[in-house]
Amino acid sequence: MMATTTPNAVRLMLILLVLGVGNAQLSPNFYSSSCPNLLTIIRNAVNTAVTADPRMGASLLRLHFHDCFVNAILLSDTANFTGEQTAAPNANSLRGFGVIDTIKTQVEQACPNIVSCADILAVAARDGTVALNGPSWALALGRRDSTTASLTAANNQIPAPGLNLPALITNFANKGFTANELVALSGSHTIGQARCATFRNRIYNDANINATYATTLRANCPRTGGNNNLSPLDVVSPVVFNNDYYGNLLTRRGLLHSDQELFNNASTDAQVRAYSTNSATFFNDFANAMIKMSNLSPLTGTNGQIRRVCSRTN
Ligand code: HEM
Ligand SMILES: *[C@@H]1O[C@H](CO)[C@@H](O)[C@H](O)[C@H]1NC(C)=O
Ligand SMILES: *[C@@H]1O[C@H](CO)[C@@H](O)[C@H](O)[C@H]1NC(C)=O
Ligand SMILES: *[C@@H]1O[C@H](CO)[C@@H](O)[C@H](O)[C@H]1NC(C)=O
Repeated sequence: MMATTTPNAVRLMLILLVLGVGNAQLSPNFYSSSCPNLLTIIRNAVNTAVTADPRMGASLLRLHFHDCFVNAILLSDTANFTGEQTAAPNANSLRGFGVIDTIKTQVEQACPNIVSCADILAVAARDGTVALNGPSWALALGRRDSTTASLTAANNQIPAPGLNLPALITNFANKGFTANELVALSGSHTIGQARCATFRNRIYNDANINATYATTLRANCPRTGGNNNLSPLDVVSPVVFNNDYYGNLLTRRGLLHSDQELFNNASTDAQVRAYSTNSATFFNDFANAMIKMSNLSPLTGTNGQIRRVCSRTN
């Protein structure tokens, strides 16, 4: 009945959708025939890297975040190209480029000119999270690589650690995320480290910080100097992806000002409390928000390119 009454144009559109023709879509099976070992190659390489340096799981997750929020975090500057790596939130801060380069080399040997760097990074971020006992999530693949980058966008769109709650909510809303998703995604700070320069103001000037915690942090982050001294974002379990981050917020032990803003007599307090006692809810919400982040305006179809080397355009 349906088929005989459906106008031809609509029928054609349905066929094109089913075939995935036209505005190409991401798909979980994108490389299953063109690069069948892809997921195994990435998972093994990430596991090796995280075993050697557990923080790498966190670094890969953050690299993917900064790639999704802007354009092309993997592109290095050259004499005639300015990328995003020197932007304030990235310079002297991002890690994991070498791991992505190593994976890309292995992937190019197995299936040359097929797999994008953006897809490799999305999978590596997921696998890095899993390697630190975090949740997994189903990734759709088929992203292509950007040939452009934007230093200005990297400076303006990546949230800064001094932001207050309304500014954080706006920053994430600009990318299509709800306040709930902001709280869930911030839970990535259950792993990894931050430099003194990013939390100095908090430990000397904020009122809503645990006094014992602040004293300990000040010992390794003086008022002047020591900008690159590291402290864990989650003081309880820095190399385990769990819900301790939220428990820390309840005891005023968020490392960044932006972290503690999520639990500071405000609209997001209830969600922080809920995640602190229910890691399954946190994991589920985090995984869903990561899928959404991974799918932020990807290049598909014939847009962009498959870079041969992740740090430069072809
Ligand atoms: C909510 C707003 C956010 C702010 C203000 C923020 C800010 C920061 C800052 C300042 C650092 C330390 C950087 C340094 O020391 O140079 C950091 C580290 C980190 N961030 Fe965020 N971030 C936010 C959201 C996110 C999101 C959404 C993710 C991932 C989904 C993420 C993942 C990480 C990870 C894993 C680290 C540790 C990286 C490492 O140890 O190498 N952050 N973040
Ligand atoms: C940029 O410089 C490289 C050498 O560093 C050169 O090979 C390339 O052609 C230049 N690209 C443009 C667009 O000028
Ligand atoms: C400060 O942190 C400790 C754990 O180190 C906790 O027992 C205490 O309750 C916290 N204080 C406040 C005011 O949250
Ligand atoms: C919230 O308000 C109470 C009562 O005014 C205060 O004691 C507390 O320090 C404030 N901050 C947080 C993070 O709860």
